[in-house]
Amino acid sequence: MAKTTQPTATPTSSSLSLLKIGIGVGVAVVLVVVIFDFTTTQEPSVPTAEGELRNNDDLMIKGQQVYFSHCAACHGFDGLGLDDLGPALADSKIVNGGSAAHIDIVLNGKEGDKMVMPANRYVLSDEEIAAVITYQRNSWGNDGGVIQPHTIAAAR
Ligand code: HEC
Repeated sequence: MAKTTQPTATPTSSSLSLLKIGIGVGVAVVLVVVIFDFTTTQEPSVPTAEGELRNNDDLMIKGQQVYFSHCAACHGFDGLGLDDLGPALADSKIVNGGSAAHIDIVLNGKEGDKMVMPANRYVLSDEEIAAVITYQRNSWGNDGGVIQPHTIAAAR
C-alpha cells in the first residue's frame, strides 16, 4: 500500500514570531489592566498628614503582613508560639497589658533562655511597629487596644 503523505500546515517562522508578539502584547495589556484596576479600586493605606494610618483596619491589615514576614517564624502564624523559638502571644501578659512593655520588647528585643527576641528598632518603621503591635493586641483572643505610629516615635 502506497504511503500517502498528508500535507501539514507548517506556519512560517515569521507568522510564528508574529503570533508570539501578539501573545506577549495581549499578556502585557491584561497585566496593565489588572494592576491599574487593583491600584485604583483598593482603599489606599497611606498615612495621613500626621503620619497616622487612617483607621484601625489599615493597621490590622499592615500588621498582619508585618507579623507574617517578621514574627510568625518564631511565634507561629496562630500566635500560639513555637517550641524553643518564641513564646505564645495569645493570652500573653505583655500583649494584653500596658503598651510600654510591648513596645519596648518589639523595639529593643530581649534575650530569652534559648532564643533571642530580635530588636526591630532599625528594621521596621514607626508605622510597621504600630501595625504589628496592634495586630498582636487584637488577634487570637487578645484585647490590648490600638497603638498608633506617633506612640512608637515617642518611645524610640
Ligand atoms: C528569632 C525568633 C523571634 C522572632 C523573629 C520574633 N520573636 Fe518575639 N520573642 C522571641 C523570644 C525568644 C521571646 C521571649 C523573650 C523572653 O524570654 O522574654 C519573644 C517575646 C516576644 C514578646 C513578649 C511575649 C511575652 O508574653 O513574654 C512579644 C510581644 C514579641 N516577642 C513580639 C514579637 C514581634 C512583634 C515580632 C516581629 C516583629 C517578633 N516578636 C519576632 C523570639 C522571636
